[in-house]
Amino acid sequence: MNTLAQKKLLVGVTGGIAAYKSPELVRRLRERGADVRVVMTAAAREFITPLTLQAVSGWPVRADLFDPAAEAAMGHIELARWADAIVVAPATADFIARLAHGRADDLLSTVCLTTRSRLLVAPAMNQQMWAAAATQANVEILSRRGVRMLGPDAGPQACGEVGPGRLLEPDVLAAAIAGQFRAPRFAGVRVVVTAGPTREPIDPVRYITNRSSGKMGYAVAEAFAEAGAEVTLVSGPAGLPAPSGVALVRVETAEEMAAAVCAHMDGAQVFVGAAAVADYRAAEVASQKIKKTAEAMSLALIKTPDILASVARRTPRPFVVGFAAETEQLIENARKKLESKHLDMIAANDVSLTGLGFESERNALQVIWKTGEASLPAARKGELARDLVELIGERYFEKNRAENS
Ligand code: C5P
Repeated sequence: MNTLAQKKLLVGVTGGIAAYKSPELVRRLRERGADVRVVMTAAAREFITPLTLQAVSGWPVRADLFDPAAEAAMGHIELARWADAIVVAPATADFIARLAHGRADDLLSTVCLTTRSRLLVAPAMNQQMWAAAATQANVEILSRRGVRMLGPDAGPQACGEVGPGRLLEPDVLAAAIAGQFRAPRFAGVRVVVTAGPTREPIDPVRYITNRSSGKMGYAVAEAFAEAGAEVTLVSGPAGLPAPSGVALVRVETAEEMAAAVCAHMDGAQVFVGAAAVADYRAAEVASQKIKKTAEAMSLALIKTPDILASVARRTPRPFVVGFAAETEQLIENARKKLESKHLDMIAANDVSLTGLGFESERNALQVIWKTGEASLPAARKGELARDLVELIGERYFEKNRAENS
């Protein structure tokens, strides 16, 4: 269990129904050794009482910006300086909007604006509110500023709807918060990740592509950056924003992806091929839009370069991780790819399962290497990526130790 010993955490509670989970979160954080103080917004006090949070944190709960007694004991500026991290859980859509726009009209927003410490935000709201363009734009503003979003989780909601917007469970949240303080394992390591589909043109308006959303590869790149690595993400057309701390190189075709990977591999120690690279492209791309005059037509296809296999042939050889999206005989097919492409590790996912893998927020992985394997059960792609990066770290550093001894 990751410890939070000697860490000072300020938990901000805002006004959503998920506030009923905040006392449990405070307890989980204290179990890990953190010193926890709580600030509530006025709306949060409509859902739970300050007394409950005082009891579990062991400290009086702060709520007002203009409270002479509290300000005399520890002013809002001192409170912001005191915290090693501020965790807003739950964070409502309204609070996220206020944070994104730099409002300072209550104690919690003022402390968030004042702090130089890391800011962690655990959103909780109705799934439509989460999906709303305004909320997503606010989340993007915050992510670009280095605010870490923890969740939301997907599933049944208090309002009766189902979808993304649930607060992460307190134990999952406490583990994710503790994870933010882990020593950056990959500091000084250069990593190249590919993600997304590729788009192979047929004529100026048509192309061949696949169902990859790019979410898994983007999550892997972000997890490496969180772990201290210097990350280049080479992405096909995924329409996703660049993860924070990651250099994003956008490409379209398999050949462009191969060239971009080659240009960034010098000095890279780890390569993760999470892209769903088209295996074939049109042998010839028509210069004008093809007319529908013929009753039938056939398209000649030729193979694209295998980026993963060519990276595995490089000297010096990086640590190479592939993905295998399979619809049948998952493990057997993944093992074959591990060997035929000379990989160090392969992460296999069954894309025939509904709700997991392609186009989904969630995934499950079976990770295989020469001397072992591990199951990473169904989870949000962000969490899964962090676990995968942990596993890659174990094998990568073990291999380095063996080669250097
Ligand atoms: O052989 P298959 O396409 O199933 O292998 C999947 C793995 O190979 C993925 O890691 C994918 O990123 C990589 N790949 C590649 N270049 C290709 C085809 C696949 O890097 N042309």
